[in-house]
Amino acid sequence: MKISKVTKKYFSDWVILGQEFWPRHSAEDIKKDFKRMLDSKNERSFVCIDNEEPIGFINLAIRTDYVEGSKTNPVGYLEGIYVKKAYRKKGIAKMLFKEAEKWFKTKKVREIGSDAMVQNVVSQKFHKSLSFKKGEILIHYIKKISP
Ligand SMILES: CC(C)(COP(=O)(O)OP(=O)(O)OC[C@H]1O[C@@H](n2cnc3c(N)ncnc32)[C@H](O)[C@@H]1OP(=O)(O)O)[C@@H](O)C(=O)NCCC(=O)NCCS
Repeated sequence: MKISKVTKKYFSDWVILGQEFWPRHSAEDIKKDFKRMLDSKNERSFVCIDNEEPIGFINLAIRTDYVEGSKTNPVGYLEGIYVKKAYRKKGIAKMLFKEAEKWFKTKKVREIGSDAMVQNVVSQKFHKSLSFKKGEILIHYIKKISP
């Protein structure tokens, strides 16, 4: 098992994992987003490889806009983390996050932000295990108006 920076070699596997994580997003949108990330200096992704098979990823960014709850700027941001079902609870997400912290340190950020859906209890436990502190909870609203 090893953690590797996402390069062109792993691009299509990373897209497949992305589709598993965000099934409501189109494959095209994920591809476009991931391509942009691959070319960006302020975004980085790592995959976990088991016997040549990518089984999880972490997507990271350096955010320069205000990050809720932060006291510094820019802030490292955990944009997404996913591990294939069969490989969960083996410490893979923790390994991916360790690499994330290393990369953030090279970028000289002092804080890492993240978010999770209220109903995603596992993600909350995961964040807690990594010493993330809970910020304020925000409810999003939307109201349609006629043109
Ligand atoms: C969240 C997720 C990435 C965790 O991956 P993982 O490789 O299973 O996590 P790890 O084995 O490294 O566990 C790290 C910590 O998270 C917590 N955790 C992980 N899975 C858990 C579970 N099923 N129940 C309770 N706590 C859990 C534990 O605190 C664990 O630390 P510990 O083993 O020392 O107690 C994985 O469950 C996943 O891909 N879920 C679907 C996608 C998702 O929700 N991503 C997060 C969105 S913000």
